[in-house]
Amino acid sequence: MKIAVVGTGYVGLVTGTCFSETGNTVTCIDIDAEKVKKLNSGKITIYEPGLGLLFERNQKQGRLFFTTDLRQGIADAQIIFLALPTPPGEDGSADLKYILGVAKDLGPLLNDYTVIVDKSTVPVGTADRVKEKIAAGTSVEFDVVSNPEFLREGVAVDDFMKPERVVIGTTSARAKK
Ligand SMILES: NC(=O)c1ccc[n+]([C@@H]2O[C@H](COP(=O)([O-])OP(=O)(O)OC[C@H]3O[C@@H](n4cnc5c(N)ncnc54)[C@H](O)[C@@H]3O)[C@@H](O)[C@H]2O)c1
Repeated sequence: MKIAVVGTGYVGLVTGTCFSETGNTVTCIDIDAEKVKKLNSGKITIYEPGLGLLFERNQKQGRLFFTTDLRQGIADAQIIFLALPTPPGEDGSADLKYILGVAKDLGPLLNDYTVIVDKSTVPVGTADRVKEKIAAGTSVEFDVVSNPEFLREGVAVDDFMKPERVVIGTTSARAKK
């Protein structure tokens, strides 16, 4: 399967690398050009036990790519994971500007039915807001799915590869399949 991951921080890099390890072709996208340059030169940007080995193997075997170009990164992707920051504001609520910003950009770039998966930590109702933003820019069919991430730094690879449970929120049978 062709997968894109938008946001290549802690969650995005673990997600993208582990999905490539399970045989998918993954492109990770980030606006941080220095980070993407480093990753493309084979240098991992976080320390996480076990991740380096998977990162190196899958990059060498041509299943793991990095880019700053959203259009190029999501081309042909059947699933797009959003692993964007949601920093808490002064009142503790999650700042959704990164997620809603990318959602707006994604609309005009979709070519075919795509499942957009929110992996960031967000309040209930965010999927509807993401859906609205994307829908404003496209007539292509898509679904927005929630898949909150529970990985713990230090054991993130194990948490991802052998999760105790995976939570998926969707009302779409097509996306669920
Ligand atoms: N780190 C954890 O242990 C952990 C665990 C569970 C859930 N989460 C949640 O997952 C989400 C991501 O967390 P993280 O720790 O990976 O954050 P992070 O800050 O490590 O990474 C976010 C990445 O997104 C990139 N980014 C920002 N705007 C972008 C844009 N417009 N396009 C592309 N990339 C962009 C940043 O450059 C950065 O590399 C947050 O909601 C967080 O609460 C984190």
